Amino acid sequence: MKSTASAPGKIILFGEHFVVYGVSAVLCAINKRITVSATKIQGNIISIKSNIGDLITTPNKPIIEINSPLKPFYFIANKMIEKYNQNTGIEILIQSEIPLGVGLGSSSASCVAGAAAISRLFAKTSKKEILDLAIEAEKTIFQNTSGADCTVCTFGGIMEYDRKNGFSKINLEPNFHLVIANSKIEHSTEIIVSNVKQFKEKNENTFSNLCKEESNLINNVLILLKNNDLTGLGKNMIKNQEYLEAIGVSNEKLRSMIELAQKLSFGAKITGAGGGGCIIALTNESNVEKVIESFKEKNYECFSAKIDFRGLDTF
Ligand code: MEV
Repeated sequence: MKSTASAPGKIILFGEHFVVYGVSAVLCAINKRITVSATKIQGNIISIKSNIGDLITTPNKPIIEINSPLKPFYFIANKMIEKYNQNTGIEILIQSEIPLGVGLGSSSASCVAGAAAISRLFAKTSKKEILDLAIEAEKTIFQNTSGADCTVCTFGGIMEYDRKNGFSKINLEPNFHLVIANSKIEHSTEIIVSNVKQFKEKNENTFSNLCKEESNLINNVLILLKNNDLTGLGKNMIKNQEYLEAIGVSNEKLRSMIELAQKLSFGAKITGAGGGGCIIALTNESNVEKVIESFKEKNYECFSAKIDFRGLDTF
């Protein structure tokens, strides 16, 4: 018996980091996907194969003993074998179009597609159950996740998310293109989130003011999105980038990439945790190619992306 699922990557348009402290964020799924297939096999084995390596081991191990980036898949497989009390092994195959570890939701999309493919080997799980399982799995590698990334990878489209109220889908299909450029600086979301926590603890007033500013910005952005006002949205990206600079998640390379993008696009900023990873530039048909060219001239890896409206797909 085989079950396959795919989930899109994501970008955070506005609100990363502040979302951890209760402010809303605006995210969208992008048309780059991870596909996971899971098969029940004979034997006491969980076998996970991916282009970043393999993990082949037995079920029933405490999760703390699993020292691999593929840990969330092990967690899900083990949990399902235990929950349904079945004497089966599971083989998992992962294929990704999403560059890994650069803030484009590869880990969340993996957890969502993994939770769907593996759980549906055992029962007809709902999207909500899959999302809960995916967030639980992501927590094995990133304990403080706000859950925003897994949510948008599950439902697709564009959405507002806050920790208390969860997500609300923004039922709009704005006509922008995003240029995503990779700094090629590796980063750990967990470490950067913990650095921001330290910054907050040392600068409570500044941080609380920044949260208020970010919250106002998000309210404006929600109106600008409805009006498809790319000029206004771009200006808010630039402002949001200033707040990210203030909490220390930017660096020289990211700043120079953003400066380059801002010359030709409506606006640009870090997307995701920062410290490395990717920046996004807001464009439309009039300037998307020019922005891509300017990055390619400087030898940056970059591509354009559109919003994915499918979200999780199961086959
Ligand atoms: C990481 O993609 C986004 C952060 O806001 C962390 C989170 O929301 O879990 C930095």
